Amino acid sequence: MTENMDTKQLLEWYITAGVDVTCGEKPWETLSVSVPAKVVSSAPTASSSQEVSRPATTELAQATVAACQNARQLSTKADTLEALKSLVENFDGCALRLTANKTVFGYGKPTADLLLIGEAPGADEDRSGIPFVGRSGHLLDKMLSAIGVNRDDCFVTNVLPWRPPGNRTPTDGEVAVCLPFLKRQIELVSPKVILILGGSAANALLDNEEPISRLRGKWLEYKTSEGAMVPVLASFHPAYLLRNSGQKAKAWADMIRVKQKLCEN
Ligand code: URA
Repeated sequence: MTENMDTKQLLEWYITAGVDVTCGEKPWETLSVSVPAKVVSSAPTASSSQEVSRPATTELAQATVAACQNARQLSTKADTLEALKSLVENFDGCALRLTANKTVFGYGKPTADLLLIGEAPGADEDRSGIPFVGRSGHLLDKMLSAIGVNRDDCFVTNVLPWRPPGNRTPTDGEVAVCLPFLKRQIELVSPKVILILGGSAANALLDNEEPISRLRGKWLEYKTSEGAMVPVLASFHPAYLLRNSGQKAKAWADMIRVKQKLCEN
């Protein structure tokens, strides 16, 4: 960015940098927020033949580890979705909260049989504070109504409760820090079935790196920290289906699987 850019060039520069919404009237310095952790410079002392868990050695890695622990401890204390929501809204261990307009916590029926999980809020969700309200959300509503399910009877959430700037791919650290909040939502809702939308959400919850093309369409299981086994189906993300309508038949088959599972008990 140079001083002699005109307004159009400046706006183009911002868009290229991923800044595609305005958050307020006045500029503010997000980078000045301090990272609440010490630097650990020592290397592991165990011999290389042993399995060691290596300590995080950079300031960012150390802060991420501390934030993950904090998120885990805090979320177990929340006994209701309302308590968890307010805890997430006040959580300061994830920098995404600083650039987001709103915290997008899970939304819907607190005792839903079907819990849906996306990746992260987009611009529409960041404005409204409600998951899946944009174009992807409209397609999702249609997919649900095709199997006779009303969105109001579901609980819809995301791996991340804050929009990554410019919809960039979340970092592994951001996902790890926010995961305890998602897991606690699953425990509190205690659904009969989980439908994961998209590969990155599936990889985050199921802790694997399988592509969605291999994961989708088959029943998997998610074990809660309380030991309950919940049937999980992964399918394509609605945003992907909007760009690749040829895959809608497979997504439709997945929705039928979900409907059958919901009707089983
Ligand atoms: N995409 C997602 O993964 N989640 C939303 O809430 C909206 C779009």
